[in-house]
Amino acid sequence: MDLQPVKGTRDFFPEQMRERNWLFDVWRKISLQAGFEEYDTCVLEHEELYIRKAGDEISQQLYSFEDKGGRRLSLRPEMTPSLARMILQHQRSLPMPVRWFSIPQCFRYERMTKGRRREHFQWNADIIGQPGVTAEAEILLLLISACREMGLTDSEFRIFLNDRRILNSILEKIQVPEHLHDAVLVVMDKRDKVSPENFSRMLVETGMNASQVEQLKDHLEMPELESLSMALPGCEGINALQELMGLLEIAGFRNFVQFDVTIVRGLSYYTGPVFEMNHPEKSHRAICGGGRYDSLLSTYGGEVIPAVGFGFGDVVILDVLQEHGRSPDLNRKLDFTIIPFEAAQVGTALKLAGDLRAQGWSVECNFGLKKMKKAMQQASESGAERALLLFPEEMERNEVVVRDMKLREQTNIQLEQLLQTPAGGLIRE
Ligand code: HAM
Repeated sequence: MDLQPVKGTRDFFPEQMRERNWLFDVWRKISLQAGFEEYDTCVLEHEELYIRKAGDEISQQLYSFEDKGGRRLSLRPEMTPSLARMILQHQRSLPMPVRWFSIPQCFRYERMTKGRRREHFQWNADIIGQPGVTAEAEILLLLISACREMGLTDSEFRIFLNDRRILNSILEKIQVPEHLHDAVLVVMDKRDKVSPENFSRMLVETGMNASQVEQLKDHLEMPELESLSMALPGCEGINALQELMGLLEIAGFRNFVQFDVTIVRGLSYYTGPVFEMNHPEKSHRAICGGGRYDSLLSTYGGEVIPAVGFGFGDVVILDVLQEHGRSPDLNRKLDFTIIPFEAAQVGTALKLAGDLRAQGWSVECNFGLKKMKKAMQQASESGAERALLLFPEEMERNEVVVRDMKLREQTNIQLEQLLQTPAGGLIRE
């Protein structure tokens, strides 16, 4: 029997679970503070939700199977199609715009590299039904607040922003036929991962000629939105980004966002602004990615409903926090550990634990009936603030010995007192 988890998946031992809960708590807090509501779906979905004409990489990475009723099902690789399905079910009755978030576990049969696994959790926040860039501004603020809440300093992360319409305008200007656009975007998305020679070769393989490849590369060298706006007059994508940057400037968040014409994002449903977050030097895989997808809902048979959002995975961010020395301090926390030293006190220990828990304290019982030294070692490993020691002699006088684990001080306290006032007044509420 192989005791390792399935390749590319993780076991979460209590230590990793503390870290995961901490991350989810940050995501939940930031979402709720911004007025987003939580939703969820089943990890099993209809396979057809992920089969797209453009041949996205994600469609090649599906964990799919047929159930006993002959249905083609997949483990979800991302949340956005499920969200679209939910919105379409109730689109007439939902008060738009909808601001929803979720923390789903997603499965992709990926080639395993740093930051990429076959299972990950992904914070999703989306605004549906709000067409203008105010929605993008809200979404980007959420990302910035989350990074700050996690302890990253403002110089340790940046959002790189582009617009799919800018990329399409470049391709139109250099006369790349429209039917090649999707394939060219897939190659452009891989630019950072291949050598310049391979990048050119892959572009030629899509059907572009050598002159178009050179012109495209020239445009990708333009770092400023202003220089591109001269090259692409009237481009809607450029106007949208300028409006968005203007809003962020007023709100005081402009410095977190940088225009980057090389950002594509791998999903074919994006129609407008696209973005990813990384270290300012782009030294990691993208920490998160997202964008506007105004036509996804209509491809599932609904009306055209504007939508924008992001997915923020748990894998890269935990690596980033560790590399910056900003992993949270997550020791186990417990108010009391109760230690009886003889079998005769076990019942009293259980009663005490029940009563203290009913008062709202976290209480662990140590029924090992160990000798003092070993029991104290376990008490200190338990992370408890205080140990309640039930010695036979003291118990005869209805007394409990309370040991403060940090100060290493002990006092005796009457059992009734411990139960009458909350924890005998030992811990301030
Ligand atoms: P995505 O760019 O495919 O977008 O993934 C978003 C984020 O999920 C990535 O930036 C990364 O943090 C994490 N991620 C993706 N794949 C893996 C993996 N194999 N291992 C670890 N982490 C991973 C989407 O999924 C879109 N549905 C996001 C979205 C929501 N767009 C609009 N709304």
